[in-house]
Amino acid sequence: MKVIIGTEEEIAKQAAQQYVELLKRKPNAVLGGATGSTPLGLYAELARLNKEGVISFKDVTTFNLDEYVGLDGSHDQSYRYFMDHNLFDHIDIDKSRTHVPDGINLENIKTYDAQIEAAGGIDLQILGIGVDGHIAFNEPGTPWDSLTHVVDLEENTREVNSRFFKSIDEVPKQAVTMGIKSIMHARSIILMAIGENKADVVDKMINGPIDTQVAASILQLHPDVTVYLDPAAASKLSK
Ligand code: PGA
Repeated sequence: MKVIIGTEEEIAKQAAQQYVELLKRKPNAVLGGATGSTPLGLYAELARLNKEGVISFKDVTTFNLDEYVGLDGSHDQSYRYFMDHNLFDHIDIDKSRTHVPDGINLENIKTYDAQIEAAGGIDLQILGIGVDGHIAFNEPGTPWDSLTHVVDLEENTREVNSRFFKSIDEVPKQAVTMGIKSIMHARSIILMAIGENKADVVDKMINGPIDTQVAASILQLHPDVTVYLDPAAASKLSK
């Protein structure tokens, strides 16, 4: 794993350069999207670069990692809504080529991995990390060979995410998520982490044993992962 440490602004700009290079080489690349607070700086930078004509998303296809069960795209906490409002509405992408797992008709998720494969596979996947080491909604104990599936969310994850809802009771109890195997199929991966509350798990991900209890530790086996950290998230790195 390559590790890059910088301020929030610096890492957003540097990570965005990976998109610039990829889209220059492959304008019709397949991008893997993520939600959460962490990628917001990157998405703002991508929108800026698009506005300035440095990159274009017009031939890009995207697949997002996850979605809450029971929320449709009009719900302001659905991940479809998040992607539209924080990225897709600000770039020249063809929205019909943007995909977020279906949290309403769960039958549809059975073909999600096949759809990704049919589009050519993900060229660059962006990931955040949960304090429990989850990537997407793959909570501790998720098997390494998992594909897109429905998960019961950990109470801790619901509590952390309740900051976006009126109360914890409104946070869905289940989500659809790409599996570990789906994520490991991506050709390149960017993982970003910001803030001191991620410092312990970031050290476990990079220096700890590869263990399903810390889902992100599997990334040690991926050939092309760049980890972007702010100084707080990097503050407990043992090596
Ligand atoms: P965050 O979420 O970016 O809001 O911290 C990351 C995650 O839970 O994967």
